[in-house]
Amino acid sequence: MTTQDNLTGAARPDSVATPSTTPWTDAGQQPFIEFQSVTKRFGNFTAVDDVSLKIYRGELFAILGGSGCGKSTLLRMLAGFEKPSSGRILIDSVDVTDLPPYERPVNMMFQSYAVFPHMSVEQNIAYGLKKEKLPKTEIKQRVAEMLELVQLPELAKRKPGQLSGGQLQRVALARALIKRPKVLLLDEPLAALDKKLREQTQFELMNLQDQLGITFVVVTHDQEEAMTLATRIAVMNAGNFIQTGTPSEVYEFPQNHFVADFFGSINIFDATVVSSTGDQVTVALEGSGTEICTRHALPLSSGSRCMVGVRPEKLLISKQQPTLEGHTITRGVVEDLAYYGNRSIYRVRSKNGRVIQVSAQNYQRSAALLLEWDDEVFLSWESNCSVVLTE
Ligand SMILES: Nc1ncnc2c1ncn2[C@@H]1O[C@H](COP(=O)(O)OP(=O)(O)O)[C@@H](O)[C@H]1O
Ligand SMILES: [Mg+2]
Repeated sequence: MTTQDNLTGAARPDSVATPSTTPWTDAGQQPFIEFQSVTKRFGNFTAVDDVSLKIYRGELFAILGGSGCGKSTLLRMLAGFEKPSSGRILIDSVDVTDLPPYERPVNMMFQSYAVFPHMSVEQNIAYGLKKEKLPKTEIKQRVAEMLELVQLPELAKRKPGQLSGGQLQRVALARALIKRPKVLLLDEPLAALDKKLREQTQFELMNLQDQLGITFVVVTHDQEEAMTLATRIAVMNAGNFIQTGTPSEVYEFPQNHFVADFFGSINIFDATVVSSTGDQVTVALEGSGTEICTRHALPLSSGSRCMVGVRPEKLLISKQQPTLEGHTITRGVVEDLAYYGNRSIYRVRSKNGRVIQVSAQNYQRSAALLLEWDDEVFLSWESNCSVVLTE
């Protein structure tokens, strides 16, 4: 019995039960899916531009980017619905570039769910196996297993029209999983669900993936979704990968302005590189000349211009001057504030005219009441909480 045959998630073979939790950090690990310099052109238009990527077995990998950046095209090439203009695609060490979809060990769950409206839930789920002409008893047993897995046994006889968005999504998922693919591809799987349901379904997807040990590749334009779901995220823009990393790497250590901005808010200051050794860099903020020493993954030459980013939640705001070692301090005036219950957002105009955003937890009831419009305040942050960004 192979891993994919074992859908109930009971005992897994040893080789799968003890995988490294961060295989991408281990140079000796064999990637499970590999894009090798893949390009896809439609006429003169390049939708995917010389992209290379390694995804490891058991990952829940997210491809994240705005509309039209090439995410679906990339996924469709992995599924076999599009052929690369150049480059190769490997799955489990097999070059699948020239294989048709049905000969690849992958299955895709489409954005539209693509369920048959005239068929019941169980008929929809059984469809793929019926087409393969599997014995009736086996189909019945596997459909029952799937219904259990996606928690829909009571709704087996219903038609799609009688289901909620979340239930439909689970039918589509069951339909894709019943064929026991090694890789499940999901194109914007939660886009049709409302916010609350989306959050709940994210956890269901993660549990399911954990239970089955199947490699998931998810395409999404929603950064929060990618952050919640994924082992790693590839951030895409205009057919290229801008940065690939774990959710905390791309959030805490974005390499450039695009990625920093894509994941939530960030305050950006212009700066000049003073010196750089190893992954430590010292930069001087423009205007104030304040020097900051922090970490940066790429080498930067002295004298070159860069940007320093600080996330709003890393900033402390206070009326009294803070006396904290290793903190960068700047002054300003509260120009705007918004109270959200659990936290408040302040927009502070600094002495050199720049607006800086601060997000503060209201950890005390009175905390939100302490600051008012036009208050003079100090802003401070720990230097190693800032990131140096290029472009
Ligand atoms: N079959 C096609 N013919 C021509 N252009 C296409 C085709 N498929 C996608 N494109 C174009 O390629 C770009 C990337 O599309 P897509 O991969 O669907 O983006 P995303 O999924 O990131 O929104 C878009 O500009 C789109 O118009
Ligand atoms: Mg798309």
